Amino acid sequence: MDKEQRLKVAVQKTGRLTDHSLDLLVRCGLKYSRGKDQLLCYGENMPLDVLLVRDDDIPDLVQEDVCDLGIVGANVVEEKRLGFIARGAAPLFIEMQPLDFGRCRLAIAVPEDFSYRSPRDLDGRRIATTYPNILSRWLRDGGIAAEVVVLSGAVEIAPRLGRADVICDLVSTGSTLKANHLREVETVLESQAMLIRTPLPLSPAKESWLNRMLLRIDGVQQVKESKYIMLHAPRAALAAIRHLLPGSEYPTVIPLEGNPDKVAVHAVCRENVFWETLEGLKAAGASAILVLPVEKMLA
Ligand code: PRP
Ligand code: ZN
Repeated sequence: MDKEQRLKVAVQKTGRLTDHSLDLLVRCGLKYSRGKDQLLCYGENMPLDVLLVRDDDIPDLVQEDVCDLGIVGANVVEEKRLGFIARGAAPLFIEMQPLDFGRCRLAIAVPEDFSYRSPRDLDGRRIATTYPNILSRWLRDGGIAAEVVVLSGAVEIAPRLGRADVICDLVSTGSTLKANHLREVETVLESQAMLIRTPLPLSPAKESWLNRMLLRIDGVQQVKESKYIMLHAPRAALAAIRHLLPGSEYPTVIPLEGNPDKVAVHAVCRENVFWETLEGLKAAGASAILVLPVEKMLA
Protein backbone atom coordinates (compact mmCIF):
# COMPACT_ATOMS: atom_id res chain seq x y z
CA MET A 1 0.00 0.00 0.00
CA ASP A 2 1.15 3.51 -0.81
CA LYS A 3 3.08 5.10 2.05
CA GLU A 4 0.64 7.99 2.39
CA GLN A 5 -2.16 5.54 3.03
CA ARG A 6 -0.63 4.30 6.27
CA LEU A 7 -1.93 5.58 9.59
CA LYS A 8 0.77 7.01 11.80
CA VAL A 9 0.39 6.77 15.56
CA ALA A 10 2.66 8.68 17.94
CA VAL A 11 3.54 6.83 21.14
CA GLN A 12 5.86 7.71 24.04
CA LYS A 13 9.39 6.44 23.35
CA THR A 14 10.39 5.54 26.90
CA GLY A 15 8.27 6.09 29.94
CA ARG A 16 5.20 5.11 31.86
CA LEU A 17 2.92 4.95 28.80
CA THR A 18 5.22 3.11 26.38
CA ASP A 19 4.52 -0.55 27.19
CA HIS A 20 0.81 -0.06 27.79
CA SER A 21 0.42 1.90 24.54
CA LEU A 22 2.16 -0.74 22.41
CA ASP A 23 0.27 -3.46 24.27
CA LEU A 24 -3.05 -1.78 23.42
CA LEU A 25 -2.14 -1.68 19.72
CA VAL A 26 -1.09 -5.34 19.82
CA ARG A 27 -4.39 -6.26 21.47
CA CYS A 28 -6.07 -4.42 18.61
CA GLY A 29 -4.40 -6.90 16.28
CA LEU A 30 -1.22 -5.07 15.28
CA LYS A 31 1.89 -7.10 14.50
CA TYR A 32 4.92 -4.86 14.08
CA SER A 33 8.62 -4.99 13.46
CA ARG A 34 10.91 -2.40 14.93
CA GLY A 35 13.08 -0.36 12.59
CA LYS A 36 16.87 -0.18 12.97
CA ASP A 37 16.73 3.29 14.51
CA GLN A 38 14.18 1.94 17.04
CA LEU A 39 12.02 4.97 16.41
CA LEU A 40 9.53 3.44 14.00
CA CYS A 41 7.46 0.31 14.45
CA TYR A 42 6.28 -0.88 11.07
CA GLY A 43 2.86 -2.52 11.03
CA GLU A 44 3.23 -5.82 9.21
CA ASN A 45 -0.38 -6.90 9.07
CA MET A 46 -2.15 -3.54 8.83
CA PRO A 47 -1.37 -0.16 7.27
CA LEU A 48 -0.45 1.43 10.59
CA ASP A 49 2.96 2.53 11.82
CA VAL A 50 4.00 3.66 15.28
CA LEU A 51 6.40 6.57 15.78
CA LEU A 52 8.20 6.48 19.12
CA VAL A 53 8.74 10.03 20.35
CA ARG A 54 8.99 12.19 23.48
CA ASP A 55 5.55 12.35 25.09
CA ASP A 56 5.58 16.16 25.22
CA ASP A 57 5.98 16.23 21.43
CA ILE A 58 2.96 14.04 20.71
CA PRO A 59 0.27 16.75 20.54
CA ASP A 60 2.54 18.82 18.27
CA LEU A 61 3.16 15.90 15.93
CA VAL A 62 -0.57 15.29 15.63
CA GLN A 63 -1.16 19.00 15.28
CA GLU A 64 1.47 19.34 12.56
CA ASP A 65 -0.06 16.43 10.74
CA VAL A 66 3.09 14.33 10.99
CA CYS A 67 0.99 11.75 12.83
CA ASP A 68 -2.71 11.02 12.49
CA LEU A 69 -3.16 9.67 16.01
CA GLY A 70 -1.38 9.97 19.33
CA ILE A 71 -1.48 8.17 22.64
CA VAL A 72 -0.50 10.60 25.37
CA GLY A 73 -1.28 11.60 28.95
CA ALA A 74 -4.25 13.90 29.49
CA ASN A 75 -1.82 16.07 31.47
CA VAL A 76 0.26 16.76 28.34
CA VAL A 77 -2.86 17.29 26.20
CA GLU A 78 -4.38 19.74 28.69
CA GLU A 79 -1.16 21.71 29.09
CA LYS A 80 -0.88 22.12 25.30
CA ARG A 81 -4.56 22.97 24.94
CA LEU A 82 -4.37 25.72 27.56
CA GLY A 83 -1.19 27.01 25.89
CA PHE A 84 -3.05 27.43 22.62
CA ILE A 85 -6.00 29.12 24.25
CA ALA A 86 -3.66 31.52 26.06
CA ARG A 87 -2.22 32.49 22.67
CA GLY A 88 -5.70 33.00 21.26
CA ALA A 89 -5.35 29.99 18.97
CA ALA A 90 -7.32 26.78 18.72
CA PRO A 91 -5.55 23.48 19.28
CA LEU A 92 -5.44 21.39 16.14
CA PHE A 93 -5.97 18.02 17.67
CA ILE A 94 -9.15 16.31 18.77
CA GLU A 95 -9.36 14.52 22.10
CA MET A 96 -10.95 11.19 21.27
CA GLN A 97 -11.20 9.06 24.37
CA PRO A 98 -9.53 8.10 27.64
CA LEU A 99 -7.71 4.78 27.45
CA ASP A 100 -7.92 3.59 31.03
CA PHE A 101 -4.21 3.24 31.73
CA GLY A 102 -1.36 5.51 32.77
CA ARG A 103 -3.33 6.96 35.63
CA CYS A 104 -1.47 9.63 37.56
CA ARG A 105 -2.11 13.06 38.96
CA LEU A 106 -0.56 16.48 38.73
CA ALA A 107 -0.07 17.44 42.36
CA ILE A 108 1.36 20.10 44.59
CA ALA A 109 4.07 18.72 46.86
CA VAL A 110 5.86 20.50 49.67
CA PRO A 111 9.11 19.72 51.52
CA GLU A 112 8.53 17.39 54.47
CA ASP A 113 9.17 20.15 57.02
CA PHE A 114 6.81 22.64 55.34
CA SER A 115 3.81 23.21 57.57
CA TYR A 116 0.90 23.01 55.14
CA ARG A 117 -2.78 23.39 56.08
CA SER A 118 -4.53 24.81 53.01
CA PRO A 119 -3.84 26.30 49.56
CA ARG A 120 -3.60 29.68 51.30
CA ASP A 121 -0.18 28.57 52.53
CA LEU A 122 0.99 28.77 48.92
CA ASP A 123 0.39 32.53 48.77
CA GLY A 124 3.62 34.34 47.93
CA ARG A 125 5.50 31.07 47.36
CA ARG A 126 7.46 29.95 44.29
CA ILE A 127 6.11 26.76 42.67
CA ALA A 128 8.35 24.88 40.24
CA THR A 129 6.64 22.98 37.42
CA THR A 130 6.80 21.83 33.83
CA TYR A 131 3.02 22.44 33.63
CA PRO A 132 2.75 26.25 33.90
CA ASN A 133 -0.60 26.54 32.10
CA ILE A 134 -2.46 23.98 34.19
CA LEU A 135 -0.89 25.24 37.41
CA SER A 136 -1.66 28.89 36.60
CA ARG A 137 -5.30 28.05 35.97
CA TRP A 138 -5.52 26.17 39.28
CA LEU A 139 -3.95 29.09 41.14
CA ARG A 140 -6.26 31.56 39.41
CA ASP A 141 -9.34 29.46 40.20
CA GLY A 142 -8.30 29.25 43.85
CA GLY A 143 -7.40 32.93 44.08
CA ILE A 144 -3.85 32.05 45.13
CA ALA A 145 -1.05 34.52 44.44
CA ALA A 146 1.97 32.28 43.92
CA GLU A 147 4.86 32.60 41.50
CA VAL A 148 5.12 29.91 38.81
CA VAL A 149 8.72 28.88 38.14
CA VAL A 150 8.82 27.13 34.77
CA LEU A 151 11.38 24.34 34.50
CA SER A 152 11.99 21.87 31.71
CA GLY A 153 12.60 18.90 33.99
CA ALA A 154 13.99 17.63 37.31
CA VAL A 155 11.30 19.58 39.11
CA GLU A 156 11.60 17.43 42.23
CA ILE A 157 15.04 18.81 43.10
CA ALA A 158 14.06 22.48 42.68
CA PRO A 159 13.31 23.07 46.40
CA ARG A 160 16.67 21.63 47.45
CA LEU A 161 18.46 23.81 44.90
CA GLY A 162 16.63 26.85 46.27
CA ARG A 163 14.93 27.52 42.93
CA ALA A 164 11.44 27.12 44.39
CA ASP A 165 9.62 26.57 47.68
CA VAL A 166 7.26 23.84 46.52
CA ILE A 167 6.62 21.88 43.34
CA CYS A 168 3.75 20.90 41.06
CA ASP A 169 4.57 17.65 39.28
CA LEU A 170 3.16 14.33 38.13
CA VAL A 171 2.77 11.68 40.78
CA SER A 172 2.11 8.09 39.96
CA THR A 173 3.46 5.73 42.63
CA GLY A 174 4.75 8.58 44.79
CA SER A 175 8.26 7.15 44.96
CA THR A 176 9.90 10.16 43.29
CA LEU A 177 8.40 12.47 45.89
CA LYS A 178 9.42 10.19 48.72
CA ALA A 179 12.99 9.92 47.46
CA ASN A 180 13.15 13.71 47.43
CA HIS A 181 11.56 14.24 50.85
CA LEU A 182 8.48 15.87 49.41
CA ARG A 183 4.89 15.44 50.56
CA GLU A 184 1.84 15.56 48.28
CA VAL A 185 -0.76 18.07 49.51
CA GLU A 186 -3.14 18.98 46.65
CA THR A 187 -4.34 17.37 43.42
CA VAL A 188 -4.34 19.83 40.54
CA LEU A 189 -5.38 17.45 37.75
CA GLU A 190 -6.22 13.74 37.47
CA SER A 191 -4.74 12.18 34.36
CA GLN A 192 -4.70 9.00 32.29
CA ALA A 193 -3.64 8.08 28.77
CA MET A 194 -5.79 9.55 25.98
CA LEU A 195 -6.19 9.01 22.29
CA ILE A 196 -5.95 12.16 20.18
CA ARG A 197 -6.34 12.60 16.44
CA THR A 198 -5.81 15.20 13.79
CA PRO A 199 -8.95 17.18 12.90
CA LEU A 200 -7.96 17.04 9.23
CA PRO A 201 -9.96 14.72 7.03
CA LEU A 202 -8.09 11.53 6.21
CA SER A 203 -8.21 9.61 2.99
CA PRO A 204 -11.12 7.13 2.92
CA ALA A 205 -8.69 4.22 3.38
CA LYS A 206 -7.08 5.79 6.43
CA GLU A 207 -10.40 6.92 7.89
CA SER A 208 -11.73 3.43 7.57
CA TRP A 209 -8.70 1.95 9.40
CA LEU A 210 -9.02 4.62 12.05
CA ASN A 211 -12.64 3.65 12.64
CA ARG A 212 -11.72 -0.02 12.82
CA MET A 213 -9.05 0.77 15.39
CA LEU A 214 -11.52 2.80 17.46
CA LEU A 215 -13.95 -0.12 17.53
CA ARG A 216 -11.15 -2.49 18.47
CA ILE A 217 -9.98 -0.18 21.25
CA ASP A 218 -13.54 -0.15 22.59
CA GLY A 219 -13.54 -3.93 22.41
CA VAL A 220 -10.22 -4.20 24.25
CA GLN A 221 -11.46 -1.87 26.98
CA GLN A 222 -14.72 -3.74 27.39
CA VAL A 223 -13.20 -7.20 27.68
CA LYS A 224 -10.74 -6.06 30.33
CA GLU A 225 -13.42 -6.24 33.00
CA SER A 226 -15.88 -8.48 31.23
CA LYS A 227 -16.69 -12.04 32.16
CA TYR A 228 -18.92 -14.65 30.57
CA ILE A 229 -21.05 -16.25 33.22
CA MET A 230 -23.10 -19.46 32.92
CA LEU A 231 -25.37 -20.95 35.55
CA HIS A 232 -28.48 -22.99 36.18
CA ALA A 233 -31.40 -21.23 37.81
CA PRO A 234 -34.82 -22.27 39.07
CA ARG A 235 -37.41 -20.55 36.84
CA ALA A 236 -38.96 -19.06 39.96
CA ALA A 237 -35.67 -17.35 40.88
CA LEU A 238 -34.90 -16.02 37.40
CA ALA A 239 -35.87 -12.42 38.10
CA ALA A 240 -33.80 -12.29 41.28
CA ILE A 241 -30.80 -13.88 39.59
CA ARG A 242 -30.92 -11.58 36.57
CA HIS A 243 -30.92 -8.70 38.98
CA LEU A 244 -27.70 -9.98 40.59
CA LEU A 245 -25.71 -10.32 37.36
CA PRO A 246 -23.39 -7.31 37.30
CA GLY A 247 -23.61 -5.10 34.23
CA SER A 248 -25.45 -7.53 31.96
CA GLU A 249 -28.60 -6.29 30.26
CA TYR A 250 -29.95 -9.23 28.27
CA PRO A 251 -28.90 -12.64 29.48
CA THR A 252 -29.68 -15.63 27.28
CA VAL A 253 -32.14 -17.98 28.95
CA ILE A 254 -32.12 -21.56 27.68
CA PRO A 255 -34.51 -24.36 28.70
CA LEU A 256 -32.90 -27.42 30.23
CA GLU A 257 -33.80 -30.69 28.58
CA GLY A 258 -35.79 -32.88 30.99
CA ASN A 259 -36.01 -30.26 33.73
CA PRO A 260 -38.96 -27.89 33.23
CA ASP A 261 -38.35 -26.08 36.54
CA LYS A 262 -34.83 -24.96 35.69
CA VAL A 263 -33.16 -22.93 32.96
CA ALA A 264 -29.58 -22.21 31.95
CA VAL A 265 -28.60 -18.54 32.01
CA HIS A 266 -25.66 -17.22 29.96
CA ALA A 267 -24.62 -13.60 30.27
CA VAL A 268 -21.75 -11.27 29.49
CA CYS A 269 -21.07 -9.22 32.60
CA ARG A 270 -19.46 -5.88 31.82
CA GLU A 271 -17.98 -5.69 35.28
CA ASN A 272 -15.66 -7.93 37.18
CA VAL A 273 -17.45 -10.82 38.86
CA PHE A 274 -16.39 -11.18 42.47
CA TRP A 275 -16.80 -14.11 44.86
CA GLU A 276 -19.48 -12.09 46.69
CA THR A 277 -21.54 -11.99 43.50
CA LEU A 278 -21.25 -15.76 43.07
CA GLU A 279 -22.23 -16.31 46.69
CA GLY A 280 -25.24 -14.04 46.18
CA LEU A 281 -26.25 -15.96 43.03
CA LYS A 282 -25.95 -19.26 44.85
CA ALA A 283 -28.01 -17.95 47.76
CA ALA A 284 -30.68 -16.89 45.24
CA GLY A 285 -30.88 -20.48 43.97
CA ALA A 286 -28.31 -20.63 41.16
CA SER A 287 -26.16 -23.73 40.72
CA ALA A 288 -23.42 -24.95 38.37
CA ILE A 289 -22.01 -21.42 38.16
CA LEU A 290 -19.13 -20.92 35.72
CA VAL A 291 -17.24 -17.67 35.12
CA LEU A 292 -15.06 -17.41 32.01
CA PRO A 293 -12.76 -14.65 30.78
CA VAL A 294 -13.79 -12.91 27.57
CA GLU A 295 -11.05 -12.85 24.96
CA LYS A 296 -12.48 -10.51 22.31
CA MET A 297 -15.67 -8.52 21.93
CA LEU A 298 -17.22 -6.55 19.08
CA ALA A 299 -20.34 -4.64 19.99
C1 PRP B 1 6.84 11.87 36.12
C2 PRP B 1 7.27 12.91 37.13
C3 PRP B 1 8.10 12.15 38.13
C4 PRP B 1 7.58 10.75 38.03
C5 PRP B 1 6.68 10.42 39.17
O1 PRP B 1 7.70 11.82 35.05
O2 PRP B 1 7.97 13.97 36.54
O3 PRP B 1 9.46 12.20 37.78
O4 PRP B 1 6.84 10.64 36.81
O5 PRP B 1 6.34 9.05 39.20
P1 PRP B 1 6.29 8.27 40.60
O6 PRP B 1 5.30 8.96 41.47
O7 PRP B 1 5.85 6.89 40.22
O8 PRP B 1 7.67 8.28 41.18
P2 PRP B 1 7.29 11.07 33.67
O9 PRP B 1 7.57 9.61 33.77
O10 PRP B 1 5.92 11.44 33.26
O11 PRP B 1 8.32 11.63 32.65
P3 PRP B 1 8.35 13.10 32.00
O12 PRP B 1 7.53 14.00 32.86
O13 PRP B 1 9.79 13.41 31.97
O14 PRP B 1 7.76 12.92 30.63
ZN1 ZN C 1 7.46 14.12 29.25
